[in-house]
Amino acid sequence: MLEVKILKEIETIFRQFGYEGEDIFNAIAYFYANIFSIKMSQNLTKIIEKGEIISQVVLKDHINQQIISPIINNYIQPDKSANNLTVFYQYFLGKRFRDITGKFFTPHKIAASMVKMLPIKPHALIIDPTCGCGTFLQQISNLWENIPCHLIANDVDNMLVCLTELILKINHKHQQKFKPDISLSLFTENIYNYHDSPHQQIKSLYGKIDYIIANPPFSLPIENFSSTSELFKAGYRNSDALFIDLAFELLKLDGRLVTLLPHSIISNKEYEKLRQIVEKNWLLTAIITLPEGVFHTTANTTTRADIIVLDKKGEEYRDQQTNKQTIFANVSSIGIPLNSKQKNVATNDLETLLQNPDIISTLGI
Ligand SMILES: C[S@@+](CC[C@H](N)C(=O)[O-])C[C@H]1O[C@@H](n2cnc3c(N)ncnc32)[C@H](O)[C@@H]1O
Repeated sequence: MLEVKILKEIETIFRQFGYEGEDIFNAIAYFYANIFSIKMSQNLTKIIEKGEIISQVVLKDHINQQIISPIINNYIQPDKSANNLTVFYQYFLGKRFRDITGKFFTPHKIAASMVKMLPIKPHALIIDPTCGCGTFLQQISNLWENIPCHLIANDVDNMLVCLTELILKINHKHQQKFKPDISLSLFTENIYNYHDSPHQQIKSLYGKIDYIIANPPFSLPIENFSSTSELFKAGYRNSDALFIDLAFELLKLDGRLVTLLPHSIISNKEYEKLRQIVEKNWLLTAIITLPEGVFHTTANTTTRADIIVLDKKGEEYRDQQTNKQTIFANVSSIGIPLNSKQKNVATNDLETLLQNPDIISTLGI
């Protein structure tokens, strides 16, 4: 377990040379890339090169070397799932962004359950358009083991795209699974600009994606913007509406969206019209209401969220208001603390739900 004491020790050493947050993280990313010797994109190489220069300056000093070496040996070398790398990121860079862009990581237990809602399909094209540190894609590559698929990670923050690349490649390397048929594409695009920017790479994926899995920023107001998004034009001028419409554009017919969205979309009267439009275009496969406090461990917020599973209507259901079966569930535990009083939580209703034969059949998994 990487304790704050260790993080502070690293910080103190780097600060002696005037290095703060991002510089320190770059040096740590360099330690990881060096130890796990992964093949990097140009984008990640730039960060690793900066980190190498910084680490050379700091480690020239013999005493610093004596302090940093055991930290590398104990916390980086054995970190074959790159879990500590996320902790380093959150400590050195997380604070700076969190409040502005809704940047927090999805708890692994929720992500692990959500990826199970995607039927395994060889050669599937899967995108997380707001990937953060790539939690969902990491879980897919773990669960899908030797099933070939193409993972696409996008985030507006380039550093997070680099973090995702590093984490996924370290994981694959460790599991000896990084074979040519599991491929990865990385984009750094603002998903709310997609209608206005015809040259974006994301736009080139319209109609081609099998699965979308995401935890986008919740309910960011978006004004002064021209968009062809149906929900946006219906008066829903926020990130949730634009995200649902982007997902619709990206998916193939019958493609699936598994996403976290704010509970207000399901419960509030003001979203009634949005729900009607969604049901016109999508099959509502599942609405799973999560308990209050799901983001307590990663974001210290009480925001309520639901897992929504939507399937883009194929020929069979086109222009019909009919739905197939929908799962409506309310889970009260997800295997992690929901507030500061809870410590270890053994029960995970979400996982139990996914073992129910009717749920398995409705989800087609
Ligand atoms: C709640 S976090 C989800 C993180 C991710 N699922 C994970 O577990 O690491 C939302 C992510 O959306 C990204 N984001 C915010 N605005 C965006 C935009 N306009 N385009 C693309 N990504 C955006 C943030 O940088 C952040 O990483």
